[in-house]
Amino acid sequence: MSHALSIPPAVSRIEAETPADAEGVDALVMAAFGPGRFAKTAERLREGSAPSAGFVAHLEGRVIGSVQLWPVTVGETPALFLGPIAVDAGRRSDGLGAELVSACLNHARTLAGQVGGVLLVGDRAYFERFGFVPASDVVLPGPVDRRRVLWLATGVPGVSGMVAIAR
Ligand SMILES: CC(C)(COP(=O)(O)OP(=O)(O)OC[C@H]1O[C@@H](n2cnc3c(N)ncnc32)[C@H](O)[C@@H]1OP(=O)(O)O)[C@@H](O)C(=O)NCCC(=O)NCCS
Repeated sequence: MSHALSIPPAVSRIEAETPADAEGVDALVMAAFGPGRFAKTAERLREGSAPSAGFVAHLEGRVIGSVQLWPVTVGETPALFLGPIAVDAGRRSDGLGAELVSACLNHARTLAGQVGGVLLVGDRAYFERFGFVPASDVVLPGPVDRRRVLWLATGVPGVSGMVAIAR
């Protein structure tokens, strides 16, 4: 008698961030970026704001991956600002970063009609695999290498103008 092969369902390693993750997320981001992150222009878009959503990966109760999405406007377009994204140095190149980005994009797509896309400041060499393209007409509230300003449309193909915290 033959038995059908039992294939367990794929289990996502990514979960929605909860308040219990706050300390672990802070420690992970600090280890990845150091205190210099607070001087970054991207941080100006997070100060005094609260994330729309966050996603984490855990290992044995420890946060080993984290990403957040922040509500902004780009010109007149409501959007989500992605970052910081970090994976524990000992757990990189295992697809966790990609899973965190995918969680963000899925979230943005569930908000189609409310947000036009996802903006970030980051390495094109990493983010173009997800479909991010340069958004050189977008102006951030501080100095930034324009080539690192990237956009992925989930409703509005192109954006331009000032980025501001959405109120
Ligand atoms: C960027 C980061 C989140 C990716 O996490 P990850 O779990 O390693 O990502 P993935 O497993 O999905 O992808 C890994 C691949 O992306 C590549 N990669 C990672 N960072 C890259 C970058 N900045 N530019 C180009 N490629 C990059 C890796 O070399 C690796 O390639 P490989 O598969 O050929 O080995 C992680 O490297 C990290 O935390 N870095 C420090 C913080 C940081 O720089 N954040 C992003 C700011 S742009």
